Amino acid sequence: MTTPQSGILPLASSHAYFVLLRRRLGRRIDAKSRECLANLQARLAAQDCLGVVAFGADAFGDVFDGPRPAELRAFPRIPGAVHAAPASDADVLIHLRGEHQDRLFDLADACVDALSGWLEPVENVAAFRRAEGRDLTGFVDGTENPDADERPTVALVADGDWAGGSYIHTQRYVHRLDTWQKLPVKQQEAVMGRTKADDEELDDEEKPATAHISRVVIEENGEELAILRHSLPYGTPGGERGLYFASYCHTPVIFEKMLARMISPTSDGRVDHLLNYTRAVSGGAFFAPSREKLAMLG
Ligand code: HEM
Repeated sequence: MTTPQSGILPLASSHAYFVLLRRRLGRRIDAKSRECLANLQARLAAQDCLGVVAFGADAFGDVFDGPRPAELRAFPRIPGAVHAAPASDADVLIHLRGEHQDRLFDLADACVDALSGWLEPVENVAAFRRAEGRDLTGFVDGTENPDADERPTVALVADGDWAGGSYIHTQRYVHRLDTWQKLPVKQQEAVMGRTKADDEELDDEEKPATAHISRVVIEENGEELAILRHSLPYGTPGGERGLYFASYCHTPVIFEKMLARMISPTSDGRVDHLLNYTRAVSGGAFFAPSREKLAMLG
């Protein structure tokens, strides 16, 4: 029996913290760090919060002995990319979410402290859900996420040693909101591939091949490829603002294919026009083991 970490399957939360950490030079995982990882799910549950801790390819062997998740690998480098998708120097992701930002802050702070003998933070972002799940572009984000009954199949490794785990990708996007807001709504809709007010998909005749939706909807053998997204807006008023993108999947391959169609013209000569209005400034690829695997670290 395997149980996924609590932050993976539930519907969107009002607040989140995304913390990327990297290994301190020459340091090995210590007893305090192991205890923190082993107890995280219980601490989150006690505070009515959800969360995930996940490990990148370079650090995985520091934490777990034996065979690693078969597809765990670095953040992809996409051949022919004309838009940036930088990989951060990050080994561990802590993604906490829930309804109480104060509790999430305390938990994230306590984790960073408990892990400090082994890891140092490289990015630390508080994110929030806006009314109707709207991104700062004004468009609803998350509509086509898998339904509750499809989520386990989409997000979790089904069997083998690492069953109940999930492959995660994160990217911090910084929006060019001044430019975006000058764009007439009709053109914004052509960039996204959906209507702004009503959040309807544009008809095929109206939807450009460069629309965000056209890039990320990929059909293979009659089936649409799916990821579970937990992205949320973040930022400082008047300062840097954007979307913290996070996807969960039973394989890293689907995110890699979607990102390739967004940033590289190699498939059909086109890229995602959304990227004229936002740019990725961080990126990470991680694996979140099941709760049972984490508990073994204690
Ligand atoms: C859909 C925004 C990045 C994958 C959407 C939608 C919006 C949106 C507004 C339509 C509503 C919905 O179904 O959720 C954004 C923004 C991004 C971003 C603002 C970055 C700044 C990405 C990335 C990927 C991705 C990096 C994957 C590599 C998807 C998928 C859908 C989607 C799979 C659902 C498509 C469908 O089934 O219709 N996104 N997105 N998005 N996005 Fe993004």
